[in-house]
Amino acid sequence: MKIVLFGKNGQLGWEFRRTLPILGEVTSFDRGELDLCDRAAIQKRLGELKPDLIINASAYTDVDAAEKETELAMQINALAPGVMAETARQLRAAFIHYSSDYVFDGTKHACYLESDATHPLNMYGKSKLAGEENIRQAGEAYLILRTSWVYSLRGNSFVNKVLKWSRQNKTLKVVSDQISGPTWARALAEITGFVLAQNKKELYESIHEKNGVYHLAGNGFTSRYEWARQILANDPNPSEQVAQAIEPARSEDFPTPAVRPLFSAMDCSLFEETFGLHLPDWKNTLQLAMTR
Ligand SMILES: NC(=O)c1ccc[n+]([C@@H]2O[C@H](COP(=O)([O-])OP(=O)(O)OC[C@H]3O[C@@H](n4cnc5c(N)ncnc54)[C@H](OP(=O)(O)O)[C@@H]3O)[C@@H](O)[C@H]2O)c1
Repeated sequence: MKIVLFGKNGQLGWEFRRTLPILGEVTSFDRGELDLCDRAAIQKRLGELKPDLIINASAYTDVDAAEKETELAMQINALAPGVMAETARQLRAAFIHYSSDYVFDGTKHACYLESDATHPLNMYGKSKLAGEENIRQAGEAYLILRTSWVYSLRGNSFVNKVLKWSRQNKTLKVVSDQISGPTWARALAEITGFVLAQNKKELYESIHEKNGVYHLAGNGFTSRYEWARQILANDPNPSEQVAQAIEPARSEDFPTPAVRPLFSAMDCSLFEETFGLHLPDWKNTLQLAMTR
């Protein structure tokens, strides 16, 4: 099977570089190799490579900067996925894309279902929702996997930020009124790999049969505050911490350009029933992710 991966250096894309070679021959792109603002380049490279499977792990993910760089966020999160989906249909390639819990406004106060009305509060959420719509219109064999609070142990992830703050500050303040499901990028890449490996028929046909949007995040939900507490509890080098206390704060104590939904946890039972797979409990997964 020939696979094209976009966003190979992101949190999820990096993990896919471990997972995908088991499934086939992978050609992966970072921004320098293919800028997703260049529609013609996407079509040209895909046309040359003729993959059986396209995975889009790329996105414009700076939620606050998207309020200003709206056009760029739209190009990467909405237009590029539409071009990928259209080209995938023309090439008879299955298409896997990731969306976000930020397509919801957080006012349901219970876990969101795929059938719930969307109403993004910020430009990032709007651009991700527009991406979903473009894929639905242009695509034929696609999965849109909505996920939340993706983390890895690399780069500027939330886990690494909390560890860094704990080495710089005596007291950490983290918002306790934002609630969702932390999702380990490696687990997300692996479970996607399992979905792709379980198909008995031609991949295009079997993804076509299961076309649609699915929620897929670490099981359970928590606040950013509790998540940060668990990160510190699992710190592999706790002696390096200077932090003596971690205190809950409110979102309004930390004004940001983008408004975030307060409760955007998602119900993942449709994914579980359809594919017979689930992501384990977020807390156990975090412990596993942080064990060195
Ligand atoms: N992170 C979260 O908390 C979260 C929550 C919900 C949903 N999601 C979704 O989950 C998926 C994976 O997220 P992630 O956290 O792994 O993202 P990430 O770490 O921010 O990685 C995104 C990748 O996209 C690439 N990219 C951005 N603009 C590009 C362009 N113009 N051309 C080519 N590549 C470009 C980036 O390249 P550079 O490295 O060169 O910038 C980066 O490698 C995304 O669809 C995201 O929307 C994420």
